Amino acid sequence: DTVVLAYSGGLDTSIIIPWLKENYGVEVVAFCADLGQGDDLDKVRDKAFASGAKAVVIKDLRQEFLTDYAFPMLKSQAIYENVYLLGTAIARPLIAKHLVEVAREYHATAVAHGATGKGNDQVRFELGVMAWAPDLKVIAPWREWNITGRNEAMAYAKEHNIPVSATPSSPYSRDQNLWHISHEGGVLEDPSVKTPPDVYTWTTDPLEAPNTPQWVRVGFDKGVPVAINGEEREPIDLMQTLNQLGAQHGIGRVTMVENRLVGMKSRGVYETPGGTILYAAHHGLTSLTWDRETQAFAQTVALRMARLIYDGLWFSALRESLMAFVNTANEVVTGEVDVMLYKGSATVHAMTSPFSLYSADLATFDGGQYNHHDAEGFIHLFGLPLAVRQRLLQQRGDA
Ligand code: ARG
Ligand code: SIN
Repeated sequence: DTVVLAYSGGLDTSIIIPWLKENYGVEVVAFCADLGQGDDLDKVRDKAFASGAKAVVIKDLRQEFLTDYAFPMLKSQAIYENVYLLGTAIARPLIAKHLVEVAREYHATAVAHGATGKGNDQVRFELGVMAWAPDLKVIAPWREWNITGRNEAMAYAKEHNIPVSATPSSPYSRDQNLWHISHEGGVLEDPSVKTPPDVYTWTTDPLEAPNTPQWVRVGFDKGVPVAINGEEREPIDLMQTLNQLGAQHGIGRVTMVENRLVGMKSRGVYETPGGTILYAAHHGLTSLTWDRETQAFAQTVALRMARLIYDGLWFSALRESLMAFVNTANEVVTGEVDVMLYKGSATVHAMTSPFSLYSADLATFDGGQYNHHDAEGFIHLFGLPLAVRQRLLQQRGDA
């Protein structure tokens, strides 16, 4: 039998290879998704083979990740618990979908992943697999073995001749892709300890960022970012450019305590420089092109979308239905937004759109189309319930 393992090249997923062979008597195919995490994928391939994989599959999913996952999420303006731009959560369903594809190619009977039994990622991987291949068995070694920490994992690796990198590893658990990098564990597990500066790997400290602001003009087509400073950009190039600009100016750092799906609170640090610029710019453009009711309903959808993405329910009927609203609402989100990058903040200053609903004639303070008298009747009707209630209270002697 063959098992396909979602493989990263790290210590944890490397020891899973001999563990599966020993405990399940299977052959292991290592599947690595390139989401722009910046690892040397030739080294990852070598390491998988050195750890005992019978085959290694590496897929470049960077464009698909942005086009079919991160950008649709941006269009929905989903943010988890007001802070987290969901960079890990949005990547897991994509990895799961391709894990299933590779499993089919190799006629595998099971897939495996290296997420622990305490986290969200196990749920996201497994819901993604269930949505595409309800018949496939999932093996989650962290829920089965009695390896509990890094030292035991190292010992297991040495016993099984798995190459272990000589450099002391970071005390933090990280997850990185084109959208963000996350940091958890180590001293971060004490929420009373201020985030130490050595946690951040992408962004400049805002206090040390340039003293002069930098302007960037982001262009959107139907809610999808397509241009920077008037120049059309392909998704990967656009994202890399905004990440670099944002990182220089210390943009997109957040520290939060979040509620995990599996019950516990967890303290995490995220860096999402390009994503933070894009969320600000997209929001700026919708302020110009969405009417009041659409804007209000979009907030409700954003909340629900954030929750379902966090919970690993991307491949669900609810997500498809909500996306239908999001896509329709975004048909008018075309235009350009001027964003200022300065010492940790990305602020929107101006926007233009062929679908602008802004009417200078209506808004102006000097004359214009608006008939002031119309407001009088409107206020009478809008406030009528307040007046009715007050009359009742007065009659009853309660006011
Ligand atoms: N807490 C975040 C989330 O649930 C980040 C998880 C990071 N995962 C990891 N394997 N390092 O989305
Ligand atoms: C893990 O526990 O494997 C990583 C963190 C998470 O899934 O939330």
